[in-house]
Amino acid sequence: MAIDQAVIEEIKFRNSIEDVVSQYVTLKRAGSNLVGLCPFHSEKSPSFTVFVNEGNCHCFGCGAGGDVINFIRRIENLDYPSAVEFLAKRAGITVTRSDDDKREARRRERVLEMNKLAARFFYETLMSPAGSEGYDYLTRVRGLSNAHIRHFGLGFAPNDFGALTGLLRSKGYADHEMATAFLCGVSTKTGRPYDYFRNRVIFPIFGISGDVIAFGGRVMDDSKPKYLNSSDTPAFKKSRNLFAMNFAKNYCSEQLILCEGYMDVIALHCAGFTNSVATLGTAITPEHARMLKRYTKKVVISYDSDEAGQNAADKAFRLLGEVGVETKILRMSGAKDPDEYIKKFGSESFRKIIDSSETEFDYKFGKIMKKYDFSITGDKIKALGECENLIAATPSAAERDIYIFDTAPKLGITPDAMKRDIERIIASKKRNAEREEVRKIITSSEGYGDRVNPDYVKNPRAASAEEAMLGILMLHPEYLSELSKKGDPLSADEMFTELGKKICSALISIISAGAPDESALEGLLGEYLTVEETERAMRMRISRRMLTNNTPAVLIECKRSLKEAKSKNELDISDIISQKRERSRQNRENN
Ligand code: GTP
Ligand code: MN
Repeated sequence: MAIDQAVIEEIKFRNSIEDVVSQYVTLKRAGSNLVGLCPFHSEKSPSFTVFVNEGNCHCFGCGAGGDVINFIRRIENLDYPSAVEFLAKRAGITVTRSDDDKREARRRERVLEMNKLAARFFYETLMSPAGSEGYDYLTRVRGLSNAHIRHFGLGFAPNDFGALTGLLRSKGYADHEMATAFLCGVSTKTGRPYDYFRNRVIFPIFGISGDVIAFGGRVMDDSKPKYLNSSDTPAFKKSRNLFAMNFAKNYCSEQLILCEGYMDVIALHCAGFTNSVATLGTAITPEHARMLKRYTKKVVISYDSDEAGQNAADKAFRLLGEVGVETKILRMSGAKDPDEYIKKFGSESFRKIIDSSETEFDYKFGKIMKKYDFSITGDKIKALGECENLIAATPSAAERDIYIFDTAPKLGITPDAMKRDIERIIASKKRNAEREEVRKIITSSEGYGDRVNPDYVKNPRAASAEEAMLGILMLHPEYLSELSKKGDPLSADEMFTELGKKICSALISIISAGAPDESALEGLLGEYLTVEETERAMRMRISRRMLTNNTPAVLIECKRSLKEAKSKNELDISDIISQKRERSRQNRENN
């Protein structure tokens, strides 16, 4: 990517790590650093540290982190150029883009243009005699007015294989572009494109800024599949977008209603609940949860009352809980979904059930109570066990006490007995967690199952010497030429792991092109490495920075021991454990 280094520096300067991270993480001061709960893994005590002076962050729990660009790359799930662009926008800086980036941006724009034309075509068709079947369905069957139809830009795709593709072709769009936009399929027999949406009412999906980014199309009878949705395109990712978020974004700061279906959201907006959105034919994703966290304080899950909807609710509770959004769930009876509820009982009644929605605890407790027959002793014991496990999962001791006093009488036991059981469960969970931690030390985190550097475990001694070397080199790029002068130049082939080779060769290219300063290094590495690999490289640097002996002599010593370890090529679990212990000790000292 060819964004000028000076521009990158300016972007980093204008987006302080402290400001940017604190938009996603609640930070507390700890000496000259800031700490908070890591946004990249679940944790109860903060191990995510922002090094304000260095301009970077690091999670001592999961290893995620880096400079402000890498942080955005990960948290917003963007590639390097898009993260740079995201931050440039935030700081009001214009970036000139490379040819590749321009091509990608152009592809996106073309998709958006085609979508706009398609949306207009679908809407006009709906309002013309050709769309009478769709119009009849939306108005008579689903009860929508012309104003609602216009507001949501609803449309109709005629039962015709060439209507939209013909139109787009006449406007100069190539077949492959229409296929990219998911507006046409391509016949395997003739290789010719055909309209993807046919004989369906159309729900355009708008991005936050109001562009039409995708479509959903519904049949007007009971045929299958009920909905067709656009797949991901250069302008659309279903894991990141929500239906009607463009409308809801201005009304949801206090509370947001999360539904499953397009029709639920439309019915809710029409009834005045303009703070409702739906996922797009997918379960809620961690990206959705992070996005919701930015827009609202509280989410009310308003899924269908069937089993699938209720199972999906469990996932929503978990993901929203992880990002720290207060979450409640609608208790709806007498209707299968919010759309039907409003039609049957009216919007006032819906407002009442929104206001009396349940907390996660009440909801889960209610589910347990419903599942068992309390006149059967065995059932009662099972119910008690499940309730105790539910309470044990609550982190706050005070909250646990409240739940115990509330629920014990309902289960017909004394709070004391329940409390003792719960304490036993918590203690045993803690023991298991510790055991799991030890197991991970031995089998995963530093070795087996290490996705980023799978070679590590094959020879931890060599891999660790390699990490030390690369860490020192990142702190002191000038050592590269010193080694050459000493007649012992460094080459990527010397490294033991594939990742080490990759990092080393990137460093050699970067340093040879002019020694970068510390703050530029990460961005430059980001152009050679994936986000996880960059993080790993940065971790090597951070580990070395904690030590004082980063001299050329140590680098040479590491080089020698790497060579020696490679020749032995041994595997020694006790090494992994002692290294892990050493690292934890360093982390503790640093916190
Ligand atoms: P109505 O039956 O018209 O009230 O639809 P609904 O919007 O209430 O949808 P429903 O609760 O049946 O499904 C929820 C969401 O799942 C829909 O809005 C779609 O996004 C998605 N969905 C439902 N059926 C299908 C399907 O057959 N294929 C795909 N890809 N998505 C579907
Ligand atoms: Mn429905």
